[in-house]
Amino acid sequence: MKAVYPGSFDPLTYGHLDLIKRSLRVFQQLEVAVVSNPAKQALLSVTDRVDLIRQVCGGWSGITVNAFDGLLVDYVQTTGSRVILRGLRAVSDFEYEFQMSMMNKRLADEIETFYMMTGEDHSFVSSSTVKEVASLGGDISSFVPAVVENKLLQTLEA
Ligand code: PNS
Repeated sequence: MKAVYPGSFDPLTYGHLDLIKRSLRVFQQLEVAVVSNPAKQALLSVTDRVDLIRQVCGGWSGITVNAFDGLLVDYVQTTGSRVILRGLRAVSDFEYEFQMSMMNKRLADEIETFYMMTGEDHSFVSSSTVKEVASLGGDISSFVPAVVENKLLQTLEA
């Protein structure tokens, strides 16, 4: 079975990677779908976000990485999958995820959203806090792969 793992990935963190790895024990194929016009203003361009994910896990068996535009459910339908995969870190994620899954269900009843808890080592890591720490000169090397760290620091310095 194939699942689609959508997100902003601005930037990819070890939390995302943990979920990607564990999901491959359940799903044969996983498409990482990077939203190209996120609701929040992104720091990294969509090309950079896709490239970084491809550099880190594009070579793993069963993984594809692409950008998408417009409604997620419309995109999922083009992939031949009927499963959206999302990670849940804490109770605070629940309300947003609940609204999103209900809305997606109403838009496309045949698509199901599956949730996995983020690994405990990464349950407090978010792309926003990583960006904040990096912009204030903090060490982010334990939260993101080196290629992501380099690109983030380069973008912040530009
Ligand atoms: O990593 P994020 O920012 O939590 O991911 C949010 C994402 C990309 C999954 C969500 O914003 C999304 O699905 N955007 C596409 C537009 C859409 O389909 N909106 C309706 C669902 S509420």
